[in-house]
Amino acid sequence: MNCIHFGECGSCVLGGSYEEQKALKIAKISADFSEFYDGELEFFTSSEKNYRIRAEFGIWHDKYDICYTMHARQKGRKIFINECPKVAKPIAKLMPDVLKNLQSNEMLKTRLFGVEFLACTSGVLLTLLYHKKLDENFQNELKVFANKLNITALARSRGQKILSDELSLIDELEIDKKIYKLSLSENAFTQPNKAVNEKMISWARGCVQNSSDLLELYCGHGNFTIPLSSCFTRVLATEISKSSILNATKNYELNNINNVLFLRMSADELMSAFKKEREFNRLREIDLDEFNFSHILVDPPRAGLSQSVINFIKNYQNIIYISCNPDTLKENLLELCKTHQVVKFAIFDQFANTHHIECGVLLRVKPRN
Ligand SMILES: C[S@@+](CC[C@H](N)C(=O)[O-])C[C@H]1O[C@@H](n2cnc3c(N)ncnc32)[C@H](O)[C@@H]1O
Repeated sequence: MNCIHFGECGSCVLGGSYEEQKALKIAKISADFSEFYDGELEFFTSSEKNYRIRAEFGIWHDKYDICYTMHARQKGRKIFINECPKVAKPIAKLMPDVLKNLQSNEMLKTRLFGVEFLACTSGVLLTLLYHKKLDENFQNELKVFANKLNITALARSRGQKILSDELSLIDELEIDKKIYKLSLSENAFTQPNKAVNEKMISWARGCVQNSSDLLELYCGHGNFTIPLSSCFTRVLATEISKSSILNATKNYELNNINNVLFLRMSADELMSAFKKEREFNRLREIDLDEFNFSHILVDPPRAGLSQSVINFIKNYQNIIYISCNPDTLKENLLELCKTHQVVKFAIFDQFANTHHIECGVLLRVKPRN
């Protein structure tokens, strides 16, 4: 990899050419999932540089200077870095200016221990993380700093959150030649590799045939929901995070969509509601039995699906499973493949130069003998 920190930095640890990395990932997934699938594995490539729209760095202080740090390959150690080739171009451009402007500012520099960048179409949000109480003059100083760099800045300390300006994070995704506008949260999940995310959503749209309604669990801010909604009559989409659901509802309006119902519920709460084990105020005016789901879409966290979710989704014809952890995907497929077969399998290379593998699997119910 063309990075001066490669070999030392604990973030990118997979060397070799991109073609070699691709072959390695395909070989691993083919071998690990051979009992479920022996068809063609689709591979969606990433750019090797400037692909990450989110990035986090530590801040190291000596007597006068500050510097960015990353965790080192050697456990428990840190390395100093000046640049990171995988961050999106607007972040790469800002990194030296942010450091320079912080270095000369005692109020903003003191007890700063980390920074997070998020780059989207509407601009860059920089979050500054502190081990100190932020006093009443802090916001003015933050505003001057943010204006100078033409960004929005957010300072966080225990129990405190100060913004330089009103926060509006809007990203635009182009999927199958259509632009979608998505409002994002600063503190909730967003897909880190925008170009691969667009390919992943397009792949999921390509999995839809003979559709009626969609049930989506773990929907976040509607990243899949909004672009997939036109493939279905109605969509029920649920998610545990309050801020993600607030944005999902905003995104519904931003994109003039009128067939999606977003609900803030954990996956297991929704399973209890379907089984009528519990009543929920949020469902008072909703009859879950009115939906006719032809497809289920799940994009769970690394832990994968709970037994109650598996038991429920097994009753439906088509399951689109997006997974960020091949180990839990495999565990869940052991169960799901008792009733379903894998008809499509894709690898989305969200993180070049790392061992991380994101998969997409389309499962269809097995024909009855
Ligand atoms: C891998 S992210 C996917 C989000 C979204 N599909 C996207 O593409 O941006 C997983 C999501 O599951 C949510 N989540 C975590 N545990 C959950 C649970 N028990 N029930 C429902 N949602 C959960 C997280 O808040 C997060 O938004």
